[in-house]
Amino acid sequence: HSRSVVVGCGAYLPETVVTNTDLAERGIETSDEWIVQRTGIRQRHIARADETTSVLGTRAAMAALDDAGLSPADIDLVICATSTPDHTFPSSATQIQAALGIEGGFAFDLQAVCAGFVYAVATADRFLTTGGAKRALVIGAETFSRLLDWEDRTTCVLFGDGAGAIVLEAREGEGTSADRGVLSSCLRSDGRHRTKLYVDGGPGSTGTTGKLRMEGREVFRFAVGSVTDVIEDAFRASGTTADDLAWFVPHQANRRIIEASADKLGIAREKVVLTVDRHGNTSAASIPLALDAARRDGRIREGDLVMIEAIGGGFTWGAALIRW
Ligand code: ACO
Repeated sequence: HSRSVVVGCGAYLPETVVTNTDLAERGIETSDEWIVQRTGIRQRHIARADETTSVLGTRAAMAALDDAGLSPADIDLVICATSTPDHTFPSSATQIQAALGIEGGFAFDLQAVCAGFVYAVATADRFLTTGGAKRALVIGAETFSRLLDWEDRTTCVLFGDGAGAIVLEAREGEGTSADRGVLSSCLRSDGRHRTKLYVDGGPGSTGTTGKLRMEGREVFRFAVGSVTDVIEDAFRASGTTADDLAWFVPHQANRRIIEASADKLGIAREKVVLTVDRHGNTSAASIPLALDAARRDGRIREGDLVMIEAIGGGFTWGAALIRW
Protein backbone atom coordinates (compact mmCIF):
# COMPACT_ATOMS: atom_id res chain seq x y z
CA HIS A 1 0.00 0.00 0.00
CA SER A 2 1.12 3.52 -0.73
CA ARG A 3 0.13 6.58 1.28
CA SER A 4 0.56 10.36 0.85
CA VAL A 5 2.04 11.54 4.14
CA VAL A 6 2.18 15.18 5.29
CA VAL A 7 5.86 15.93 5.91
CA GLY A 8 5.72 19.74 6.11
CA CYS A 9 3.38 22.68 6.44
CA GLY A 10 3.76 26.44 5.99
CA ALA A 11 1.85 29.67 5.44
CA TYR A 12 2.24 33.30 4.47
CA LEU A 13 0.03 36.29 5.19
CA PRO A 14 0.47 39.79 3.73
CA GLU A 15 1.71 42.31 6.30
CA THR A 16 -1.18 44.73 5.94
CA VAL A 17 -3.93 44.00 8.46
CA VAL A 18 -7.32 45.67 7.96
CA THR A 19 -9.71 45.55 10.94
CA ASN A 20 -13.49 45.84 10.77
CA THR A 21 -13.21 49.33 12.24
CA ASP A 22 -10.71 50.27 9.51
CA LEU A 23 -13.33 49.29 6.90
CA ALA A 24 -16.00 51.42 8.61
CA GLU A 25 -13.55 54.34 8.80
CA ARG A 26 -12.86 53.99 5.06
CA GLY A 27 -16.49 54.79 4.32
CA ILE A 28 -18.05 51.31 4.12
CA GLU A 29 -21.40 51.47 5.87
CA THR A 30 -20.71 48.70 8.38
CA SER A 31 -19.56 48.15 11.95
CA ASP A 32 -17.28 45.84 13.91
CA GLU A 33 -20.33 44.67 15.86
CA TRP A 34 -22.30 43.65 12.71
CA ILE A 35 -19.38 41.80 11.11
CA VAL A 36 -18.34 39.98 14.30
CA GLN A 37 -21.88 38.96 15.16
CA ARG A 38 -22.77 37.64 11.67
CA THR A 39 -19.42 36.11 10.68
CA GLY A 40 -16.92 36.00 13.56
CA ILE A 41 -14.45 37.98 11.41
CA ARG A 42 -12.43 40.68 13.25
CA GLN A 43 -9.67 41.41 10.74
CA ARG A 44 -8.21 40.26 7.43
CA HIS A 45 -4.82 40.59 5.66
CA ILE A 46 -4.79 42.47 2.35
CA ALA A 47 -2.03 42.04 -0.25
CA ARG A 48 -0.06 44.98 -1.66
CA ALA A 49 -0.09 45.41 -5.45
CA ASP A 50 3.24 43.56 -5.80
CA GLU A 51 2.06 40.68 -3.61
CA THR A 52 0.40 38.54 -6.27
CA THR A 53 -1.07 35.09 -5.67
CA SER A 54 2.12 33.41 -6.90
CA VAL A 55 4.24 35.60 -4.60
CA LEU A 56 2.12 34.60 -1.59
CA GLY A 57 2.09 30.97 -2.74
CA THR A 58 5.87 30.90 -3.17
CA ARG A 59 6.40 32.21 0.38
CA ALA A 60 4.02 29.61 1.83
CA ALA A 61 5.71 26.87 -0.22
CA MET A 62 9.16 27.93 1.05
CA ALA A 63 7.90 27.79 4.64
CA ALA A 64 6.46 24.30 4.04
CA LEU A 65 9.72 23.06 2.45
CA ASP A 66 11.68 24.51 5.37
CA ASP A 67 9.36 22.76 7.83
CA ALA A 68 9.84 19.47 5.94
CA GLY A 69 13.62 19.88 5.81
CA LEU A 70 13.47 19.54 2.02
CA SER A 71 14.79 21.59 -0.87
CA PRO A 72 12.86 22.62 -4.01
CA ALA A 73 14.70 19.97 -6.06
CA ASP A 74 12.98 17.27 -3.97
CA ILE A 75 9.57 18.29 -5.38
CA ASP A 76 8.17 16.76 -8.59
CA LEU A 77 4.57 17.99 -8.41
CA VAL A 78 3.21 21.48 -7.63
CA ILE A 79 -0.53 22.04 -7.41
CA CYS A 80 -1.79 25.53 -6.67
CA ALA A 81 -5.46 25.78 -5.74
CA THR A 82 -6.56 29.30 -6.64
CA SER A 83 -9.35 31.32 -8.24
CA THR A 84 -7.21 34.45 -8.34
CA PRO A 85 -4.21 33.53 -10.53
CA ASP A 86 -1.69 36.25 -11.44
CA HIS A 87 -2.62 35.81 -15.11
CA THR A 88 -5.26 33.90 -17.06
CA PHE A 89 -2.29 31.80 -18.12
CA PRO A 90 0.36 30.54 -17.50
CA SER A 91 -0.75 29.01 -14.22
CA SER A 92 0.33 30.40 -10.88
CA ALA A 93 1.67 26.92 -10.10
CA THR A 94 4.25 27.17 -12.91
CA GLN A 95 5.20 30.67 -11.69
CA ILE A 96 5.73 29.24 -8.19
CA GLN A 97 7.68 26.31 -9.65
CA ALA A 98 9.99 28.79 -11.42
CA ALA A 99 10.30 31.08 -8.38
CA LEU A 100 11.40 28.10 -6.28
CA GLY A 101 13.92 27.07 -8.97
CA ILE A 102 12.27 23.70 -9.64
CA GLU A 103 13.20 22.50 -13.14
CA GLY A 104 11.72 18.98 -13.11
CA GLY A 105 8.32 17.46 -12.56
CA PHE A 106 5.06 19.21 -13.38
CA ALA A 107 2.86 21.98 -12.02
CA PHE A 108 -0.73 23.09 -12.55
CA ASP A 109 -3.46 25.25 -11.03
CA LEU A 110 -6.68 23.76 -9.74
CA GLN A 111 -9.84 25.85 -9.59
CA ALA A 112 -12.64 24.80 -7.26
CA VAL A 113 -12.97 28.16 -5.46
CA CYS A 114 -13.15 27.70 -1.68
CA ALA A 115 -13.08 23.89 -2.02
CA GLY A 116 -9.84 24.15 -4.03
CA PHE A 117 -7.47 22.95 -1.33
CA VAL A 118 -9.52 19.82 -0.58
CA TYR A 119 -9.68 19.10 -4.33
CA ALA A 120 -5.91 19.66 -4.58
CA VAL A 121 -5.13 17.28 -1.70
CA ALA A 122 -7.37 14.62 -3.27
CA THR A 123 -5.69 15.14 -6.67
CA ALA A 124 -2.12 15.09 -5.33
CA ASP A 125 -2.98 11.96 -3.34
CA ARG A 126 -4.01 10.16 -6.54
CA PHE A 127 -0.71 11.02 -8.28
CA LEU A 128 1.38 10.04 -5.25
CA THR A 129 -0.34 6.74 -4.48
CA THR A 130 -0.26 5.57 -8.10
CA GLY A 131 3.40 6.37 -8.71
CA GLY A 132 2.82 9.49 -10.83
CA ALA A 133 4.90 11.64 -8.47
CA LYS A 134 7.03 11.26 -5.32
CA ARG A 135 6.70 14.56 -3.45
CA ALA A 136 4.05 17.21 -3.96
CA LEU A 137 3.69 20.80 -2.87
CA VAL A 138 -0.03 21.36 -2.38
CA ILE A 139 -0.69 25.08 -2.13
CA GLY A 140 -3.78 27.21 -1.56
CA ALA A 141 -3.06 30.84 -2.51
CA GLU A 142 -5.50 33.68 -3.04
CA THR A 143 -5.80 37.44 -3.45
CA PHE A 144 -9.58 37.74 -3.23
CA SER A 145 -9.25 41.44 -2.38
CA ARG A 146 -8.75 42.00 -6.13
CA LEU A 147 -12.15 40.47 -6.95
CA LEU A 148 -14.15 42.42 -4.40
CA ASP A 149 -16.67 45.14 -5.12
CA TRP A 150 -15.68 47.58 -2.36
CA GLU A 151 -19.04 49.32 -2.86
CA ASP A 152 -20.90 46.14 -1.81
CA ARG A 153 -20.85 45.85 1.97
CA THR A 154 -22.59 42.46 1.87
CA THR A 155 -19.48 40.84 0.34
CA CYS A 156 -16.40 43.05 0.74
CA VAL A 157 -16.19 42.64 4.53
CA LEU A 158 -15.98 38.83 4.30
CA PHE A 159 -12.73 38.09 2.47
CA GLY A 160 -8.95 38.33 2.92
CA ASP A 161 -5.69 37.37 1.18
CA GLY A 162 -3.11 34.72 2.08
CA ALA A 163 -1.51 31.40 1.24
CA GLY A 164 -0.78 28.06 2.88
CA ALA A 165 0.95 24.89 1.73
CA ILE A 166 1.69 21.32 2.71
CA VAL A 167 4.26 18.87 1.40
CA LEU A 168 2.89 15.39 0.70
CA GLU A 169 5.30 12.48 0.27
CA ALA A 170 4.55 9.01 -1.12
CA ARG A 171 5.41 6.30 1.42
CA GLU A 172 4.79 2.59 1.68
CA GLY A 173 2.72 1.43 4.65
CA GLU A 174 0.27 -1.17 5.90
CA GLY A 175 -2.65 0.91 4.69
CA THR A 176 -4.58 0.83 7.97
CA SER A 177 -6.40 3.84 9.41
CA ALA A 178 -3.68 4.04 12.10
CA ASP A 179 -0.99 4.65 9.45
CA ARG A 180 -0.04 8.21 8.64
CA GLY A 181 -1.26 9.90 5.47
CA VAL A 182 -4.36 10.82 3.51
CA LEU A 183 -6.84 8.08 4.51
CA SER A 184 -9.73 9.11 2.27
CA SER A 185 -11.14 11.99 0.29
CA CYS A 186 -14.54 12.64 -1.21
CA LEU A 187 -15.42 15.37 -3.73
CA ARG A 188 -18.70 16.66 -5.15
CA SER A 189 -20.02 19.51 -7.28
CA ASP A 190 -23.34 20.74 -8.62
CA GLY A 191 -23.12 23.43 -11.29
CA ARG A 192 -26.81 24.30 -11.09
CA HIS A 193 -25.94 26.67 -8.23
CA ARG A 194 -23.76 28.95 -10.37
CA THR A 195 -25.60 32.21 -9.72
CA LYS A 196 -25.44 31.92 -5.92
CA LEU A 197 -21.72 32.65 -5.85
CA TYR A 198 -19.79 33.76 -8.91
CA VAL A 199 -17.54 36.39 -10.49
CA ASP A 200 -19.25 38.52 -13.13
CA GLY A 201 -16.27 38.70 -15.51
CA GLY A 202 -13.78 36.57 -17.44
CA PRO A 203 -12.43 36.30 -20.99
CA GLY A 204 -15.60 34.61 -22.27
CA SER A 205 -18.11 37.05 -20.81
CA THR A 206 -17.07 40.65 -20.27
CA GLY A 207 -13.35 40.47 -21.02
CA THR A 208 -12.68 41.94 -17.57
CA THR A 209 -11.60 40.25 -14.36
CA GLY A 210 -15.03 40.94 -12.86
CA LYS A 211 -16.26 41.19 -9.28
CA LEU A 212 -17.51 38.64 -6.79
CA ARG A 213 -21.31 38.35 -6.44
CA MET A 214 -23.07 36.30 -3.81
CA GLU A 215 -26.50 35.42 -2.48
CA GLY A 216 -25.29 35.17 1.11
CA ARG A 217 -28.32 33.47 2.64
CA GLU A 218 -28.48 30.83 -0.08
CA VAL A 219 -24.78 30.07 0.34
CA PHE A 220 -25.23 29.84 4.09
CA ARG A 221 -28.14 27.44 3.78
CA PHE A 222 -26.34 25.19 1.30
CA ALA A 223 -23.07 25.22 3.29
CA VAL A 224 -24.73 24.00 6.47
CA GLY A 225 -27.13 21.64 4.71
CA SER A 226 -24.77 19.87 2.31
CA VAL A 227 -21.45 19.23 4.05
CA THR A 228 -22.61 16.04 5.73
CA ASP A 229 -22.63 13.82 2.64
CA VAL A 230 -18.92 14.15 1.81
CA ILE A 231 -17.90 14.02 5.46
CA GLU A 232 -19.86 10.85 6.12
CA ASP A 233 -18.46 9.28 2.94
CA ALA A 234 -14.91 10.21 3.97
CA PHE A 235 -15.39 8.61 7.40
CA ARG A 236 -16.93 5.48 5.86
CA ALA A 237 -14.15 5.11 3.26
CA SER A 238 -11.47 5.28 5.96
CA GLY A 239 -13.20 3.12 8.57
CA THR A 240 -13.12 5.92 11.15
CA THR A 241 -15.83 7.94 12.91
CA ALA A 242 -16.25 11.44 14.34
CA ASP A 243 -15.16 10.03 17.73
CA ASP A 244 -11.71 9.24 16.28
CA LEU A 245 -11.22 12.83 15.16
CA ALA A 246 -8.59 14.98 16.89
CA TRP A 247 -9.18 18.14 14.83
CA PHE A 248 -11.83 19.46 12.46
CA VAL A 249 -10.27 22.03 10.12
CA PRO A 250 -13.05 23.38 7.89
CA HIS A 251 -12.87 26.09 5.26
CA GLN A 252 -12.98 29.38 7.15
CA ALA A 253 -15.85 31.37 5.67
CA ASN A 254 -17.99 32.16 8.64
CA ARG A 255 -17.97 31.18 12.30
CA ARG A 256 -21.69 30.45 12.29
CA ILE A 257 -21.44 28.06 9.30
CA ILE A 258 -18.51 26.26 10.93
CA GLU A 259 -20.17 25.86 14.34
CA ALA A 260 -23.52 24.81 12.87
CA SER A 261 -21.72 22.19 10.74
CA ALA A 262 -19.69 20.86 13.68
CA ASP A 263 -22.82 20.61 15.86
CA LYS A 264 -24.70 18.76 13.13
CA LEU A 265 -21.85 16.26 12.76
CA GLY A 266 -21.49 15.74 16.51
CA ILE A 267 -17.98 17.19 16.54
CA ALA A 268 -17.12 18.85 19.88
CA ARG A 269 -16.47 22.60 19.63
CA GLU A 270 -13.00 22.24 21.23
CA LYS A 271 -11.90 20.06 18.26
CA VAL A 272 -12.75 22.83 15.77
CA VAL A 273 -9.86 24.97 14.49
CA LEU A 274 -11.02 28.57 13.91
CA THR A 275 -8.94 31.23 12.20
CA VAL A 276 -11.70 33.15 10.42
CA ASP A 277 -11.53 35.82 13.16
CA ARG A 278 -7.96 36.74 12.12
CA HIS A 279 -7.89 35.85 8.39
CA GLY A 280 -11.44 36.36 7.09
CA ASN A 281 -12.40 34.07 4.20
CA THR A 282 -9.24 33.41 2.17
CA SER A 283 -10.96 30.88 -0.13
CA ALA A 284 -8.60 28.04 -1.13
CA ALA A 285 -5.93 29.32 1.28
CA SER A 286 -8.04 29.11 4.42
CA ILE A 287 -7.55 25.41 5.24
CA PRO A 288 -3.74 25.29 4.86
CA LEU A 289 -3.52 28.59 6.80
CA ALA A 290 -5.59 27.01 9.60
CA LEU A 291 -3.59 23.75 9.48
CA ASP A 292 -0.36 25.72 9.82
CA ALA A 293 -1.71 27.79 12.73
CA ALA A 294 -2.88 24.69 14.62
CA ARG A 295 0.36 22.84 14.00
CA ARG A 296 2.58 25.70 15.05
CA ASP A 297 0.68 26.32 18.30
CA GLY A 298 1.04 22.63 19.17
CA ARG A 299 -2.55 21.50 18.68
CA ILE A 300 -2.04 19.20 15.66
CA ARG A 301 0.53 16.49 16.43
CA GLU A 302 1.88 13.49 14.56
CA GLY A 303 -0.70 10.69 14.62
CA ASP A 304 -3.71 13.00 15.03
CA LEU A 305 -6.72 12.34 12.81
CA VAL A 306 -7.58 15.60 11.02
CA MET A 307 -10.67 16.26 8.88
CA ILE A 308 -10.51 19.02 6.26
CA GLU A 309 -13.77 20.09 4.64
CA ALA A 310 -14.91 22.93 2.36
CA ILE A 311 -17.66 24.23 0.12
CA GLY A 312 -17.22 26.86 -2.57
CA GLY A 313 -18.65 28.45 -5.69
CA GLY A 314 -20.16 26.13 -8.29
CA PHE A 315 -21.11 24.71 -5.88
CA THR A 316 -18.07 22.52 -5.24
CA TRP A 317 -17.49 20.69 -1.96
CA GLY A 318 -15.36 17.99 -0.44
CA ALA A 319 -13.77 16.44 2.61
CA ALA A 320 -10.55 14.56 3.33
CA LEU A 321 -9.29 12.65 6.35
CA ILE A 322 -5.59 12.89 7.11
CA ARG A 323 -3.67 10.93 9.76
CA TRP A 324 -1.08 13.65 10.44
N1 ACO B 1 -22.57 45.77 7.57
C1 ACO B 1 -23.74 46.18 8.08
N2 ACO B 1 -24.92 45.77 7.61
C2 ACO B 1 -24.93 44.90 6.60
C3 ACO B 1 -23.75 44.44 6.01
C4 ACO B 1 -22.52 44.92 6.53
N3 ACO B 1 -21.34 44.53 6.05
N4 ACO B 1 -24.06 43.60 5.03
C5 ACO B 1 -25.39 43.50 4.99
N5 ACO B 1 -25.93 44.31 5.94
C6 ACO B 1 -27.33 44.50 6.24
C7 ACO B 1 -28.22 44.16 5.08
O1 ACO B 1 -28.31 45.25 4.17
C8 ACO B 1 -29.53 43.89 5.76
O2 ACO B 1 -30.15 45.10 6.07
P1 ACO B 1 -31.75 45.25 5.98
O3 ACO B 1 -32.29 44.27 6.94
O4 ACO B 1 -31.95 46.66 6.35
O5 ACO B 1 -32.08 44.93 4.55
C9 ACO B 1 -29.10 43.22 7.06
O6 ACO B 1 -27.73 43.60 7.27
C10 ACO B 1 -29.23 41.72 7.05
O7 ACO B 1 -28.64 41.25 5.84
P2 ACO B 1 -28.65 39.72 5.47
O8 ACO B 1 -27.96 39.53 4.17
O9 ACO B 1 -30.01 39.15 5.64
O10 ACO B 1 -27.74 39.19 6.64
P3 ACO B 1 -27.42 37.69 7.02
O11 ACO B 1 -27.78 37.46 8.42
O12 ACO B 1 -27.90 36.74 5.99
O13 ACO B 1 -25.83 37.71 6.99
C11 ACO B 1 -24.00 37.02 5.62
C12 ACO B 1 -25.16 37.97 5.78
C13 ACO B 1 -23.01 37.24 6.73
C14 ACO B 1 -23.33 37.26 4.27
C15 ACO B 1 -24.55 35.59 5.69
O14 ACO B 1 -25.62 35.41 4.80
C16 ACO B 1 -23.52 34.57 5.42
O15 ACO B 1 -22.61 34.38 6.18
N6 ACO B 1 -23.62 33.84 4.30
C17 ACO B 1 -22.65 32.91 3.91
C18 ACO B 1 -21.81 33.55 2.90
C19 ACO B 1 -20.38 33.14 2.95
O16 ACO B 1 -19.80 32.83 3.94
N7 ACO B 1 -19.81 33.13 1.77
C20 ACO B 1 -18.45 32.90 1.65
C21 ACO B 1 -18.15 32.39 0.33
S1 ACO B 1 -18.73 30.77 0.17
C22 ACO B 1 -17.90 29.88 1.16
O17 ACO B 1 -16.77 30.11 1.36
C23 ACO B 1 -18.64 28.80 1.83
